[in-house]
Amino acid sequence: MTTYNLRKGSAEKIRCDVVVAGVVQTKKGLAVAPGGEGIGAAYGRRLRPLLSTMGFEGKPGEVVTLPTAGTVRSPLLILVGLGEESALTTEAVRRAAGLAARTVSNAANVAVALPAADADHVRAVVEGYALGCYTFSDFKSTPAPEGPGEVIVLSDATRSKEAAAAMETAQVVAAAANQVRSWVNTPPGDLTPEKFAAAVEELKKQKKSAKVTVKVTDDTALRADGFGGIVGVGQGSANPPRLVQLTYKPRGAKTHLALVGKGITYDSGGLTLKPGPSMTTMKSDMAGAAAVIAATFAIAELGLPIAVTALAPMAENMVSGTATRPGDVLTMYGGKTVEVLNTDAEGRLVLADALVKAIETEPDLVVDVATLTGHCVVALGERVAGLMGNDDELMAAVRSAADRVGEAVWPLPIPEEMGEKVRGNSKVADLAQHNTERWGGALFAAAFLREFVDGRPWAHLDIAGPSFNDKAPHGHTPFGGTGVAVATLVELASSLSSTKQRG
Ligand code: BES
Ligand code: ZN
Ligand code: ZN
Repeated sequence: MTTYNLRKGSAEKIRCDVVVAGVVQTKKGLAVAPGGEGIGAAYGRRLRPLLSTMGFEGKPGEVVTLPTAGTVRSPLLILVGLGEESALTTEAVRRAAGLAARTVSNAANVAVALPAADADHVRAVVEGYALGCYTFSDFKSTPAPEGPGEVIVLSDATRSKEAAAAMETAQVVAAAANQVRSWVNTPPGDLTPEKFAAAVEELKKQKKSAKVTVKVTDDTALRADGFGGIVGVGQGSANPPRLVQLTYKPRGAKTHLALVGKGITYDSGGLTLKPGPSMTTMKSDMAGAAAVIAATFAIAELGLPIAVTALAPMAENMVSGTATRPGDVLTMYGGKTVEVLNTDAEGRLVLADALVKAIETEPDLVVDVATLTGHCVVALGERVAGLMGNDDELMAAVRSAADRVGEAVWPLPIPEEMGEKVRGNSKVADLAQHNTERWGGALFAAAFLREFVDGRPWAHLDIAGPSFNDKAPHGHTPFGGTGVAVATLVELASSLSSTKQRG
């Protein structure tokens, strides 16, 4: 476990195993960024030629490690690029901190002298560093080295209450995102719906202080209670489905937020089987469920005065003689019937049940998070989540929360013709689950979900792209599960806590 301490002090005088500073591009050339000026002064004119020899240009994503040989007190200096000084963002700082953390593989203590003059930057430094320290070696014979024992964040804001709060928020949010990463990275055979639900109960036990109640509904009860979507998707698997409900009800809460997350522990596509290569990362199809669960625990841990109900339908989408067939009709929780046309569009089926259940708890606002469609990845790429919904105010709140915490989301529409197709394309059931036309699949999926929210303010985040990084690590993002959406959900809850419920 790494402890984070905020301290005044100068970067050139502090003695740690490693000192980290940023480099910005200025009109006059490269310069050590605010917070690390003392290091710049200690190196003086020697620094620029040194960086130039190494081909370091100060761009985001660049990093160099220098033995300091007495120039400053810490023996090793890590310099990370922050890009142009005039365009410096907190997100650049967060990513640089993550990159620095990934670069230090084995230190007892690290001093971080990145720009941290105010609470927002303190949060970025700590969150970036804590996210960058993440490793996953549960299934390796030799565990990966843990992060440093202590990280000293150098800042002049040591007396600011906001900075102290930012320290806490950063650590809680990063730990929650790291939890999501580990759940996503766990092999699907080791995180079946039953095991995933048990892991949530176990986490609740560990977090003794969190006032969250956990309720798990098993397959027998799901069948008896009419959860046709969850049961239908899960019935092809030897590992039966679950529905996990988390409730956090602090005193004085004025707003009730419902969170719903897609929890497909493995998506083979079902009888509409995926091609082999598309299947390899499908253990990540529960990233939405993991995000809403971890975010709810984080919201409770931070004591935010907002009521939260989280619903995570968990099922494994497999192929067998008992699997749902294309052509089958499922009766969803609440009674609407759905004709299944493509068993690989399973997310919307489990989400429909969970959305209806969420509405039953009479929330003011509903947000769902789901690795829902490859179409969304086609539209927005691998690093941007799609944002859809039926309520401009809520969507704007989600978007600005995401902006503040450095997660990329972009709005997509739900055009009226998609609603018409959902309601009109099935000859035998109330709704068609799948658009047989190939275009606009992310929008059709959202239009389908909208049928189950009963007109309540609702926003939908399609995280199929950003939930899993199958490429090289970058910034504070490792290979594998990314933990996306946790920070946005906690920030949204925080912003809703401080505003009054809408009339
Ligand atoms: N889990 C997938 C979506 C996905 C794709 C997540 C790529 C992460 C990366 C989802 O269940 C799915 O298969 N969707 C289909 C929908 C289609 C059948 C309408 C898809 O994207 O092709
Ligand atoms: Zn699928
Ligand atoms: Zn899926």
